[in-house]
Amino acid sequence: MNVEIWTHCRVATLTANASVAYGLVDNAALVVQGDRVAWVGPQSELPAEWLSRCTRGHDAGGALITPGLIDCHTHLVYGGDRALEFEQRLNGASYEDIARAGGGIASTVRATRAASAAQLEAQSLARLWALIAEGVTTLEIKSGYGLALEHERKLLRVARALSRDLPVDVCTTFLGAHAVPPEFAGRTDDYLDEVLRMLPVLQSEGLVDAVDAFCERIAFTPAQTRRVFEAARALGLPVKLHAEQLSDSGGAQLAAEFGALSCDHLEWLSPEGAAAMARAGSVAVLLPGAFYFLRETRLPPVALLREHGVPMAVSTDCNPGSSPCTSLLLMLNMACTLMRLTPEEALAGATRHAAQALGLTDRGTLAPGQRADFVLWGLDHPAQLAYAMGANPRLQTVFKGRPE
Ligand code: NIG
Ligand code: FE
Repeated sequence: MNVEIWTHCRVATLTANASVAYGLVDNAALVVQGDRVAWVGPQSELPAEWLSRCTRGHDAGGALITPGLIDCHTHLVYGGDRALEFEQRLNGASYEDIARAGGGIASTVRATRAASAAQLEAQSLARLWALIAEGVTTLEIKSGYGLALEHERKLLRVARALSRDLPVDVCTTFLGAHAVPPEFAGRTDDYLDEVLRMLPVLQSEGLVDAVDAFCERIAFTPAQTRRVFEAARALGLPVKLHAEQLSDSGGAQLAAEFGALSCDHLEWLSPEGAAAMARAGSVAVLLPGAFYFLRETRLPPVALLREHGVPMAVSTDCNPGSSPCTSLLLMLNMACTLMRLTPEEALAGATRHAAQALGLTDRGTLAPGQRADFVLWGLDHPAQLAYAMGANPRLQTVFKGRPE
């Protein structure tokens, strides 16, 4: 097996409980064997055994190395855009007003249904490239703009196909319970029956890694969300939840009851919700792009999450309605400026904790046995990743041990 050694670098390992901030190793060496990290530490301590087995050496030129970034909450595959609704909101309409008037998610559902798989793929590929260009090596993509079997299938197949020839992994999440489609207007429970019919079919086609729902007064009640979670549990699928984004409906407690991987948004999270998440080991996924773009004023309770030791992830929420964003680095900055995360918390939120939010234990840190997904940056210190706005200091990405 190939053994490749990267030297002349500074490595932010992001390992949990590291004794130094960011798990930073100066004058480091990083040994890659096949697609895995085999060893990381100070170059002066590099075991001779690795040197003798080395098949290729890489001089990183003094670069900073971090784990590949992980965008753990996106709705990247969709048709059309919602620039005109953005305009309506600037003229006074609220996100909820627009949703109730048949716009919002429903307008993206119309555009997504009308698009062919090839059109969806082309549109989504441009967004995916933007993420990859900033060092993303794993991302999640949710369905939820098809809301009928053939269209949810089309969207999820596009999501799976996107990573085919690219240095990135895609995890897919079924979000059939995102909104009630027009043909089921006023018949939410009938639509949920349909969601429960779609789920096992899509799972059997290998299109579903996890199940999500939108628990909110403009979407599904906790009781309705529970039906979706029970179905997921029966199929052995992990759950996540769009919870407490616009109001506190107790979604976090419900999700915790099902051992949710994550609860996402959380602007209205209550102390009881935070305690429940801590007990369940759920990750809090913070989405500063949606907070900013919807001009929310209520912040997710970051101090409370810290108090309870709930791990925090940061993600783009890339979607046409609430966060038309393809820059995870900008989200790190906004998580700091808007939500007061530290740059170290923000970076852990796009690496280690983002992996946890996807149920992935083989990535998100740089340690022996982990996937060799990492990024070389033209930076001196990892705090610079969250500091700059609109910069892209990426030099090179290594995916599964292979340099691009
Ligand atoms: O994460 N909250 C629900 N879903 C998306 C927005 C969907 C949309 O407006 O198209 C979100 O914010
Ligand atoms: Fe979302």
